[in-house]
Amino acid sequence: MITINIYVLFLLFNFVIAIEKSNTNQVFPQGFKFGVSSSAYQIEGNWDSTRGKNIWDESIRVHPAWIKDNQTGNKACDSYNLWKRDVEMLNELGVHYYSFSISWSRLLPNGFPNYINPDAVEYYNNLINELIQNDIEPVVTLYVWDLPQSLQDMGGWPNAIIAKHYENYAEIAFSLFGDRVKTWITFNDPYEICVGGYGEGTQAPGVTSSGISDYLCGKTLLTAHSRAYYLYKNRYAKSQSGKIGIAIKAQWYEPGSILNDDIEASIRAFEMISGWWINPIFSKRGDYPDVMKTRIQTVSNLQNFYESRLPYLSSSEIRSIRGTADFLGINHFSTITVRNLSSSDNIPVSYSADVNVKYEVDSSGKSSALPWVKNTPFGFRKLLDWIRQKYGNPVVYITENGYPDYGLINDADRIDYLRGYLVELLNAIHNDNCTVQRYTVRSLMDSMEWRNGYLVKFGLYHVNFADSSTTRKPKESANFFKSVIRTREVSRVTSHIMDQDDLTINPRR
Ligand SMILES: *[C@@H]1O[C@H](CO)[C@@H](O)[C@H](O)[C@H]1NC(C)=O
Ligand SMILES: *[C@@H]1O[C@H](CO)[C@@H](O)[C@H](O)[C@H]1NC(C)=O
Ligand SMILES: *[C@@H]1O[C@H](CO)[C@@H](O)[C@H](O)[C@H]1NC(C)=O
Repeated sequence: MITINIYVLFLLFNFVIAIEKSNTNQVFPQGFKFGVSSSAYQIEGNWDSTRGKNIWDESIRVHPAWIKDNQTGNKACDSYNLWKRDVEMLNELGVHYYSFSISWSRLLPNGFPNYINPDAVEYYNNLINELIQNDIEPVVTLYVWDLPQSLQDMGGWPNAIIAKHYENYAEIAFSLFGDRVKTWITFNDPYEICVGGYGEGTQAPGVTSSGISDYLCGKTLLTAHSRAYYLYKNRYAKSQSGKIGIAIKAQWYEPGSILNDDIEASIRAFEMISGWWINPIFSKRGDYPDVMKTRIQTVSNLQNFYESRLPYLSSSEIRSIRGTADFLGINHFSTITVRNLSSSDNIPVSYSADVNVKYEVDSSGKSSALPWVKNTPFGFRKLLDWIRQKYGNPVVYITENGYPDYGLINDADRIDYLRGYLVELLNAIHNDNCTVQRYTVRSLMDSMEWRNGYLVKFGLYHVNFADSSTTRKPKESANFFKSVIRTREVSRVTSHIMDQDDLTINPRR
């Protein structure tokens, strides 16, 4: 009798252990933080009062049809006036932090530090103070694509002198807001800033100088980032005890086949899109990735250039950029299949010919409102493990992850997407030992989505842009994310019909 009982107890014990184990694997660790993001141009509006013009204002003024339905960011979500409502929504969600950006041309309408706009100081102070009063950490990005037009008139980011102007701007932001802001992000998505802005011309300021100005822009950006980092560390970090990092776009590039050429193509894509920024800052040796340097050097030689079109980093520049971040911000959305392209004899001068890969949408996974975003969470875990192995398990914050649709309130596809990515994130943390400490949904609310205007939506909150008071209303995904934050779990949360009462209590209290 006794032996049987002990045996039963033993089984029971193992069973409990097994449940305990599987449960902890489904739970985000203590101290893990959740937030949502926005960016200045996409939400603020109020462009024509005391804010200086930036490259989006100017590009849209010159080419209105550049934006879907000739839209602009002139009003956007009107967050310049509705910041209190924005914080109320953050409170409803129960997020630990809110990731927003400062508009350079609002703070410094001339682009230069000779005049600080008091309206901007008041606006950002109000927002920051309201967040802190509600126990929500302000996370501030200094630059989300919105260069003051005055600096574009000097050539913009391909002009190396812009790094110094950026440093001045950063100094003013640190000194005005750093007593309360403890997490700073220098740049959001340098790839889009440089390749979109100065290479392929698909983002403001729309300069087309592919394979030349995009690389010049890249060097200025890396320099600007490291200058802001050292400025912060040397002058502010001690008294303000904050952290500073950078947010980089990183998709997962799945090789189209097991052929060596396709595997190499997928590595080349990662290195020349994301490694371009991650390698100089986070690798042990610093500098651009070898694959990128070699490829651009080889092609430049074939094209009769005197030197590589990729402006090289001197050994002192490499040293001054390496190690300049407390965390690696990752913007991740999708898995993209990659194949090698055969090389022609006559390679055009362009960034895409330098990368020389063919992108295909992944054949699995649900489509979204953007052709390159599919619900393919498996690549998220692979990417995080790749980063862990390649860069010595750095502290990673997921600075953007989210699903683009056309704005349904009952956004079941967004919930499916978020659930799948959160489960893979748990796997990355618990099974692969990736040091991911934060997860940010893009975005708090439907916003001005750059070239897509107001057609494509990322929000957890719906914004009625047709209504003059731009009313915000939670979608089902807001409720889903709220539950994830409250329980720190994903699996047991099921989507249910929105209950307005659910969203009135702050679950963190
Ligand atoms: C958009 O702007 C272009 C160029 O100014 C103009 O030709 C076109 O009619 C506009 N379209 C709409 C829908 O307003
Ligand atoms: C694969 O890409 C590399 C680099 O672009 C190129 O040199 C090579 O010829 C390609 N392989 C094939 C089979 O086309
Ligand atoms: C997990 O990562 C941490 C931080 O890099 C490291 O110290 C630890 O040894 C790793 N554990 C395992 C089991 O790999």
